Amino acid sequence: AELTVHYNQPVHAISPSLYGLMTEEINHSYDGGLYAELVKDRVFHANATNSFIKTWQLEQNAEQGIAATVDHTTGPSQALPYSMKLTASQASASDPGGLDNPGYWGVPVWPDTTYHASIYLKGEAGAAVPVTISIVNKATGKTLASATFPAPTAEWKQYTATLHTGNVPESENNFIRISVAHPGTVWMNLVSLFPPTYLNQKNGDRVDLMKKLAALHPAFLRFPGGNYLEGNEIKDWYDWKKTIGPLVDRPTHPSPWGYQSSDGMGLLEFLEWCQDLHMQPLLAVYAGYSLHGQHVDPGKALAPYVQDAIEEIQYVTGGTDTKWGAERARDGHPAPFPLKYIEIGNEDFFDHSGSYSARFAQFATAIRKAYPDLQLIATTPVKGDVQPDVIDDHFYRSPHGFFTDTNHYDKVSRKGPKIFVGEWATIEGTPTPDFDAALSDAAWMTGLERNSDLVIMASYAPLLVNVNPMAAQWGTNLIGYDALHSFASPSYYAQVLFGKYRGDEVVKGSMEGAGPLCFYSATRAGDHLYLKIVNAAPKPQPLTLHLDADGKIDPQATLVTLSALSPHDSNSLEHPDHIVPETHVLKGIGGTVQHTFAPYSINILVMKVK
Ligand code: AHR
Repeated sequence: AELTVHYNQPVHAISPSLYGLMTEEINHSYDGGLYAELVKDRVFHANATNSFIKTWQLEQNAEQGIAATVDHTTGPSQALPYSMKLTASQASASDPGGLDNPGYWGVPVWPDTTYHASIYLKGEAGAAVPVTISIVNKATGKTLASATFPAPTAEWKQYTATLHTGNVPESENNFIRISVAHPGTVWMNLVSLFPPTYLNQKNGDRVDLMKKLAALHPAFLRFPGGNYLEGNEIKDWYDWKKTIGPLVDRPTHPSPWGYQSSDGMGLLEFLEWCQDLHMQPLLAVYAGYSLHGQHVDPGKALAPYVQDAIEEIQYVTGGTDTKWGAERARDGHPAPFPLKYIEIGNEDFFDHSGSYSARFAQFATAIRKAYPDLQLIATTPVKGDVQPDVIDDHFYRSPHGFFTDTNHYDKVSRKGPKIFVGEWATIEGTPTPDFDAALSDAAWMTGLERNSDLVIMASYAPLLVNVNPMAAQWGTNLIGYDALHSFASPSYYAQVLFGKYRGDEVVKGSMEGAGPLCFYSATRAGDHLYLKIVNAAPKPQPLTLHLDADGKIDPQATLVTLSALSPHDSNSLEHPDHIVPETHVLKGIGGTVQHTFAPYSINILVMKVK
């Protein structure tokens, strides 16, 4: 095949925000994932609602006269008006008793590591019953770290303690125990245990996952969903006001993905996540449509939701002299966050009542009045005069589906709204994509890059998956983990490479004689040319590159390759580095380059034109 590239003929600029992240509470992305909390159901929600499956267990084989029941008459806050009442009539220092929490399918233990614990407690007047929190190994029954909170008074109060592991091996087959060593009664709620977090932030994020996300250099974060924004029913919508402020004031809410969300990852935590990774927030506001098909009628009924969106934007961007900006300052972040894009709803093409155009218009009119500089994203085309700046398109496809549609946007009119591909992924491989999917993703991204005058942003979805079979709801996800380890899929590495070598401009090029499974994109940044060649075929692809450049071509180039022997190869927790990029130096480079690209390979050829 022949590929001709005209280095000095830029076709259009590439959107600097082309590659970003999309996130929501699915697959235990936050609880049991990015949000570093180790205690599962820290507010005893399952017990309080008498749900069939309970997380907390009474300590096995305890004979200390222990009883644990939910007390609906007392709790630490309005949001948590109940508590777990623990009575131990015969507990003693040599025979303590209490409750066990499994963590999110295990509890990670590292040697010489400090953990921060906290708990809300109330005791009986005149009786001092201290509570201990421990990390216990399931196999040996050995306590690996523990700390005792001060004995609680008869008033609700938060207590904190620090646990330190000693010279113990790394492990995850552990659980958390809350115990008492004195007879008496205590009431408890919001039991929390954090390991070290990314940038050592309080209420922070898991270090290994944040490092992986940082390596993607994402331009934006689309949050909080996805379906998670909508909820199954209107009453389950992402009511952001219930996700801010002290954790004890967050009542938690059901995720449409089948479990209760702790809301530890609340609106401010999303924004701080953006800040930590230098991403711009792309905030989706609830637009009055929920997954089971209910919608709020445009007009009077919708007005409170519109007002909530306006206030949410004020919480994000307002100065401390505004009502919600001041609230954000009280929550610990006086500086406003930058905000350019607001998405109105999620996948409203599912609303068969046809109400979206009017709902969108009502939101857009009010938001544009209050915040004229914001760019508004619609989730499907709308009818009428009030039009979006951007439309969010979603694609979940087979490799064949993407391989045969990489020119999807080539002919789309440039006169209408810009495009945000807010969710896309090749669906092949579980719980993370196989190499065939990575090839198809890369092929699709060559099309996004070529059309990046129109496609201004794109984000793969879903981003995260806890690989425990009980934790995951979605088949193919970018990054997998358990309680202790994480791994990146081949598709993740394709994203890393496309992000790193995105370029600032698309340059003119043409390819002839290649098979239907060979794709390319040619871009430049400063004096660098980035040539992406995706060979998804099972045989090698010889290619002659004709580079038309006025400047002198550096005789040395870099070739970064991601490849696999079989399209069904993948990475896993056990083999996280099976497929990773490899870098080679190519010498003797000039205006004509001949190279044979490996079967099943994603390649970035980086050349310098002086
Ligand atoms: O990414 C998983 C789900 O797919 C999202 O929540 C939803 O928007 C889409 O249907």
